[in-house]
Amino acid sequence: MSEQDKSHNQGFTLTDNRTGDSYELPVIQGTTGPDVIDVRRLYAETDCFTYDPGFTSTGSCESKITFIDGEKGILRYRGYPIDVLAEKSDFMEVCYLLLYGELPSPGQKKKFEHDISYHTMLHEQINNFFRGFRRDAHPMAVMCGVVGALSAFYHDSTDINDPKHRMIASYRLIAKMPTIAATAYKFSVGQPFMYPRNDLKYADNFLYMMNATPCEDYKVNPVLARAMDRILILHADHEQNASTSTVRLAGSSGANPFACISAGIASLWGPAHGGANEAVLNMLTEIGSVDKIPEFINKAKDKDDPFRLMGFGHRVYKNFDPRAQVMRQTCHEVLDELGVEDEPLLDIAMELERIALEDEYFVEKKLYPNVDFYSGIIFKAMGIPTSLFTVLFAVARTVGWVAQWNEMIEDPSQKIGRPRQLYTGDVERNYVSLHKR
Ligand code: SDX
Repeated sequence: MSEQDKSHNQGFTLTDNRTGDSYELPVIQGTTGPDVIDVRRLYAETDCFTYDPGFTSTGSCESKITFIDGEKGILRYRGYPIDVLAEKSDFMEVCYLLLYGELPSPGQKKKFEHDISYHTMLHEQINNFFRGFRRDAHPMAVMCGVVGALSAFYHDSTDINDPKHRMIASYRLIAKMPTIAATAYKFSVGQPFMYPRNDLKYADNFLYMMNATPCEDYKVNPVLARAMDRILILHADHEQNASTSTVRLAGSSGANPFACISAGIASLWGPAHGGANEAVLNMLTEIGSVDKIPEFINKAKDKDDPFRLMGFGHRVYKNFDPRAQVMRQTCHEVLDELGVEDEPLLDIAMELERIALEDEYFVEKKLYPNVDFYSGIIFKAMGIPTSLFTVLFAVARTVGWVAQWNEMIEDPSQKIGRPRQLYTGDVERNYVSLHKR
């Protein structure tokens, strides 16, 4: 949408009560969601910055990829509701949709799946990279290192101004993330690395590389592969969350895509963000039994206690996270498929959810289970180690990161991101020589 096409309403009049001066701030309307107040000229005209730590009221960019309505619990990828995509689509089709903006035709989907499959193998030299880590290194540290190092192997796709380079780098990142993730796991357990197979679908291939060994054939459980594929769909993109904003900011300087995605992985690792799924499982394990729940609920409510109920709350969703609802259903399907009758962590999670949703602290602060609340239980039931949970989030979110990165570079108004600040430090001081201090 060009500047001219955007509908400018009357806008806002800002009056500086210190001087009586007034300023007109235009409003820009999107196709849906909140309008934005265009403050691009604010500093030039008022000599003031806006101030919004954590960007709770700030739109950092224009985007056509993902839309969230936090009050209504709406999440759409390119206009398609997440629950419909989770039920009717598959991850490769969602990747195509996020990258190109339209659902693929059968021919387009077949070619896309082929092209991704033929990029799943790593450069053989990269396998030596894993061996430089300690066996007990956290897999997210390995992911940051190996993904960043891809720029040392693929010089043929780092010219970010060449659309062909951008797309081949995007395909390589989407294709290779499961291979890197599975290889990091195999390295941690001392098993031989498994090569990807071109005859397997994306999620099947990941579970194969994770669980197969050269010693015998391995058949992927189709129910688990379908569950994994659905989980990848749910985590694929989410507007301008912390890790996506990290990728955009890194990319705005012209950094190569591999370095930008490595930065996104680092940001996602935080327990307040993608690291929450691992933290949820650790929390449920620490709670240990249903009768200990009230004690932890009280800790979460205690202002003097830094403990938070992991898997609860969200900056945007203030009624429910639509992904959590699908995850909850998937959780029961996976446990049923695996014949897991008594999963104590699930019992604790269900009871914790019930109690928290009735507690006025959580109701008043609009804290509901988010996408991370159930994913850990599913991953554990699938035999995936806790330390790999956030790695799987990164595998899924890579398509969202590269789609947003491409959109940023193609945006004609794009420029290097460079926020300002409110300075409250010392004003100018004179230097005092050491012997006089
Ligand atoms: C993801 O942004 C995205 O889209 C992220 C994500 C994505 O797909 O990319 O959806 C993925 O990161 C999901 C969130 C995973 N994180 C967690 O589950 C960690 C636990 N949740 C919290 O850390 C917190 O809820 C955040 C970080 C998710 C949101 O924090 P906000 O929006 O900055 O809210 P806040 O910290 O200002 O909290 C508002 C109030 C505070 O109390 P008051 O200061 O107003 O008295 O609610 C309280 C907080 O103390 N609060 C919680 C709480 N979350 C917020 N209290 C107890 N337990 C919690 N989980």
